Amino acid sequence: MITANQVRKTFLDYFKKNGHEVVRSSSLVPANDPTMMFTNSGMVQFKNLFTGQETRSYKRAVTAQKCVRAGGKHNDLDNVGFTARHLTFFEMLGNFSFGDYFKEQAISYAWELVTKEFGMDKNRLLVTVYHEDDEAAGYWKKIAGLPDSKIIRIKTMDNFWMMGDTGPCGPCSEIFFDHGDKVAGGPPGSADQDGDRYVEFWNNVFMQFEQLPDGKRINLAKQSIDTGMGLDRMTTILQGKHDIFDIDILRAIIEASAYATNADPDGGNKVSHRVIADHLRSSAFLIADGVLPSNEGRGYVLRRIMRRGMRHAHILGATEPLMYRLLPTLISKMGDAYPELKEAEALITETLKTEEVRFKKTLANGIGLLTAETARLGSGQKLPGDIAFKLYDTYGFPLDLTQDVLRREQKREVDVAGFGAAMEKQREAARKSWAGSGEAATEKIWFDIKDKCGATEFLGYELERAEAQVLALVNGKGESVQSVNTGEEVSVVVNQTPFYAESGGQVGDTGLIKTAGALINVSDTQKKLGGLFVHIGKVTKGKVANGDVADMQINVTRRDAIRANHSATHLLHAALHRHVGKTVTQKGSKVDGVRLR
Ligand code: ALA
Repeated sequence: MITANQVRKTFLDYFKKNGHEVVRSSSLVPANDPTMMFTNSGMVQFKNLFTGQETRSYKRAVTAQKCVRAGGKHNDLDNVGFTARHLTFFEMLGNFSFGDYFKEQAISYAWELVTKEFGMDKNRLLVTVYHEDDEAAGYWKKIAGLPDSKIIRIKTMDNFWMMGDTGPCGPCSEIFFDHGDKVAGGPPGSADQDGDRYVEFWNNVFMQFEQLPDGKRINLAKQSIDTGMGLDRMTTILQGKHDIFDIDILRAIIEASAYATNADPDGGNKVSHRVIADHLRSSAFLIADGVLPSNEGRGYVLRRIMRRGMRHAHILGATEPLMYRLLPTLISKMGDAYPELKEAEALITETLKTEEVRFKKTLANGIGLLTAETARLGSGQKLPGDIAFKLYDTYGFPLDLTQDVLRREQKREVDVAGFGAAMEKQREAARKSWAGSGEAATEKIWFDIKDKCGATEFLGYELERAEAQVLALVNGKGESVQSVNTGEEVSVVVNQTPFYAESGGQVGDTGLIKTAGALINVSDTQKKLGGLFVHIGKVTKGKVANGDVADMQINVTRRDAIRANHSATHLLHAALHRHVGKTVTQKGSKVDGVRLR
């Protein structure tokens, strides 16, 4: 049986042999797209090569890209465990041409790889093309010899791929596998196309247009290729399976979970093992890429994934934390292809364990409250929003976890509007108590900005430079403004930043913020209201405005010096412990680029 690792290798080797540069997967946290939560396809790291903004030494590339679809626009979280094809973490294998080959060659490569290297039966394959794309339909006929009945023309956007509302785009052509009439479902384009009989496993995008913000669609200077083959789906087919959870990597984790909990992998608790297997993968890979559980942004999505998995560990009757114990199985299967998993093993283990210990404590109480509250309700009556909020606020139950528990176990919904109202009420109360604290006048502005923009995502554990979007600007007089001009002082708030903000005695980062029209010298970074990072500096060139895309670069030399002094503080502390005694504690520490205290 071909393993998932062999499928990946066959794909990469095939395109390498055909002149493609093998490029490593980029991080799950996209460094070059300020609007995207997680990397969700292979082309993300190459986005500027398609438009011609950037060029590299190669014109052909091949990757195995880590992807997560569990938040933002593509969100498969709620389906995972219950269907034969949804995952939150998956690998996308793709070949790319940047102004080199186009449709004919792409179709020819795809067909050769699928039928010769992977040896798939031609009779079980069919393809779709965008309804106007006679050219692609012609190549499928010529190269693959497919009859018209197996080249299905699709009118909808299913066959026109766009990265987002703007950017490179073009018609696409998908390849489907027919699992046979034992499985329910119709061919693409038919009324029952959502069944599992015909599975799409490879999308070939013919990048030929650029969608502009004003609604116009122009031709790209260079026609390009972007493809994405689902490794897990392809492996399912090649291993003669129908269910994605039966592939070797996921099955190994499911069996480890069954062994650890003494619960049949295929019995009544099947769904729980599946959820755990998928969520362990996404959690481990996200932590390896520097995301840590928190109550905001990416960290919150990670926490939701982890806690959903941990609830299923609880359903399986695991008395001890479970997920970290399954990590060695995942690493044995995927650690060679993704060494970052091995490197971060200690961090992933610790993070999973701590979170599960903490969650176990609150889970019992929360479930108790939920049971008591729902006992009072009539069948079909919604859970009141303030109870769902109490579970969220006091017990650490994300709203979707409460919804999941109630839907699956009681077919009951939550009053979501009521939940929102309870959250708003608490926010107002916090604002009022702050207003009474005396600093109100100068600090009120940060409250407004935090309400509008949410907390800033910190990327600095992994990155020294990243793209971000300007969300708010405050001028030298402390007023919130739309833009700031050359020579003026400015405080900049963005959605994500590599700049460390002063805390725990360590000074904030300095550096540069560049936008298309401005240059800002950042002399300090401070944290407001817990999670709002404020970059303080001066506009030295041009004009910066809200909504601008910003290239954020920290002063690396200074950060390195700060890091060294930070480590030295720990060394000093350890030495004092050893020579003076365990009673020595650290207070009033101060760490910057030139000294430590
Ligand atoms: N970018 C294309 C997709 O995600 C290949 O389907």
